[in-house]
Amino acid sequence: MTVSSGRETQSAIYRGGALGHSPVVPAGWATLEAAAEHTMTPAAWAYVAGGSGSEHTMRANAAAFDAWHIVPRMLRDVSRRDLSIQLFGKTYPTPVIAAPIGVLELVHKDADLGIARAASRLGIPYVASNQASIALEETFAATPGSPHWFQLYWSSSDDLVASLIRRAEAAGAEAIVITLDTHMLGWRPRDLDLAYLPFAHGLGIAQYTHDPIFQRLVHERAAAPKSSTPRVTPAVIRTLLDMTRHYPGSFWSNLRSADPRLAVDTFLEVFSRSSLTWNNLRFVRERTKLPILLKGIQHPDDARLAVEHGMDGVIVSNHGGRQLDRAIGSLDALPAVVDAVGDRIPVLFDSGIRSGSDILIALALGATSVLVGRPYVYGLSIAGAAGAEAVLRNLLAEFDLALGLAGHTSASSLGPDALAVRRREHS
Ligand SMILES: Cc1cc2nc3c(=O)[nH]c(=O)nc-3n(C[C@H](O)[C@H](O)[C@H](O)COP(=O)(O)O)c2cc1C
Repeated sequence: MTVSSGRETQSAIYRGGALGHSPVVPAGWATLEAAAEHTMTPAAWAYVAGGSGSEHTMRANAAAFDAWHIVPRMLRDVSRRDLSIQLFGKTYPTPVIAAPIGVLELVHKDADLGIARAASRLGIPYVASNQASIALEETFAATPGSPHWFQLYWSSSDDLVASLIRRAEAAGAEAIVITLDTHMLGWRPRDLDLAYLPFAHGLGIAQYTHDPIFQRLVHERAAAPKSSTPRVTPAVIRTLLDMTRHYPGSFWSNLRSADPRLAVDTFLEVFSRSSLTWNNLRFVRERTKLPILLKGIQHPDDARLAVEHGMDGVIVSNHGGRQLDRAIGSLDALPAVVDAVGDRIPVLFDSGIRSGSDILIALALGATSVLVGRPYVYGLSIAGAAGAEAVLRNLLAEFDLALGLAGHTSASSLGPDALAVRRREHS
């Protein structure tokens, strides 16, 4: 694992240029986004880049950062800078975490292995998504000794929830992230207009198809009276082939079996549960000693409730503006949540981190760490694991430089005094 200083990363790029090498990924957000769009199919781009509704919340996530300025200080000897942070009794070399992102096979064949390897090379925790394309046992085993977390979507089957937690623990996960904001899928016009949901094609359900309890549910479904089967058309055949390709085991034996289709049907039925309440958290609390974080917290009262219910951390996130449109910009929600929990549990942040300065602002407003999502997906789409690594390395380099240029030496001691509020223009 190597985290180079910002200057080293910068120099490596310039030195490479002198030898005729182009950087692996564009260094700025707009150019990275544009390059990534070129690499993706329209359906993949819609799924990854899109938000819910009219994408007000996606814009609010960016606008919330625009409301702050960093106020640099001078002559403070910033020649040595420390990016490390403490979380759950461990020291991590940087404040960055790779956010759980589902269906990465949509953007590159390296998929989850790509980001797991990229994160591992930088000492960054990799959070395996519940909707991963590759089972957690494989991604964790491919990156031994690296920090691994598991993100859970709370299924309507408690047995499946318990099984996923057991598997994550057995594979060496160091924390469980429960995502609360996606108990129903948000209204996503870009995907709806293409009538495309990857899961309905058997993509992004590897955690399920590798799970013994899920397999049991699939076989129970196979034994139940048959529902009507769709008329066979070229589109239906294509979908069935997609499902078959994504099901574990040999393609030819899967082709003869109904299991791939039944797995998709079972997944669509058990994916989530909108009836959850705070009392349900006891079920997971009783099943693991690992730190549990709640992802999707935006209201200070929910943060207080998380503490009262024995949770170990909260992640202030609105899922990158993919769930409730017109929801508050995530950074706008951060200060009140930080106030509400004080130093009882760590507050992590995501939704809108695009640059090193964004990391600095989130930390200055009280976040212990930040989760990076779309930026690494774009790197992955451009150049697989190497692209995801380059994006994360660039972000860390820019953060290190921002820290020094702002006159600070330590990521963990940033505070609001590093910032000034900019007057919000309402249009
Ligand atoms: C394509 C895509 C898939 C995602 N899949 C998941 C997921 O499986 N589980 C989860 O908790 N969050 C998921 N998220 C949300 C991210 O973890 C994170 O909250 C979000 O990307 C932050 O917003 P940003 O990437 O715009 O900064 C997904 C986000 C995107 C863009």
